[in-house]
Amino acid sequence: MTYEEFREEIKKLKASNKYPSLKSYTLPSLWIAEKNFSRIDPEIIRIIAQELELPLVEVEEAARFYAMFHTKEKGKYVIRVCTNLSCMLNGAEDIVSELKRLLGIEVGQTTPDGLFTLEEYECMGLCDGAPALTINEERFLRVKKEELPQILKKFGWKGE
Ligand code: FES
Repeated sequence: MTYEEFREEIKKLKASNKYPSLKSYTLPSLWIAEKNFSRIDPEIIRIIAQELELPLVEVEEAARFYAMFHTKEKGKYVIRVCTNLSCMLNGAEDIVSELKRLLGIEVGQTTPDGLFTLEEYECMGLCDGAPALTINEERFLRVKKEELPQILKKFGWKGE
C-alpha cells in the first residue's frame, strides 16, 4: 500500500461514520497501517493526524502505547507467544526457547530474511488452549514444541 492509498483508506473509514468522534478513528486507522506496512513510521502518523485533525503527538503516543502496533520494522509474520499464567503453566517457556533456537533470534528480534518477528505477549483470551501463540491472524492452540517446525514451514521457514 502506498501512503496515498493509505490516506484514501482513512478517508473511507471516516466516511463510514462508525465511530462517535474523529479521535475514536485513531486505533482503527493504526490497525490499517499495521496490516499494510512493515512499520508505523512518522509519515503514517502524520497522515492519520492530518485526516483525524489530531495533534501528531496523540497519534504517536497511541502507536507506541499498544503492543500490537509496530513502530520499528517487523517481519512479514509476527509470532506472538502468550507468556501469561495459563500458558506459562502449560509450557510457554519451552515454546519461546524452541522458537528462539529454531529461528536463531531473541524475543523482540526479526530474522535476517525479514520473515519472522518473535514476541512474548500478554493473555490473548485463549487460555483454554494454553499454551497459545498467534502468527499474524492465525491462532495455534495447545502447541507442542515438536510441532513448531511444521507450523513455521507453513509460513515459509526453510530451516531444519
Ligand atoms: S494465559 Fe495465555 S492465552 Fe490466556
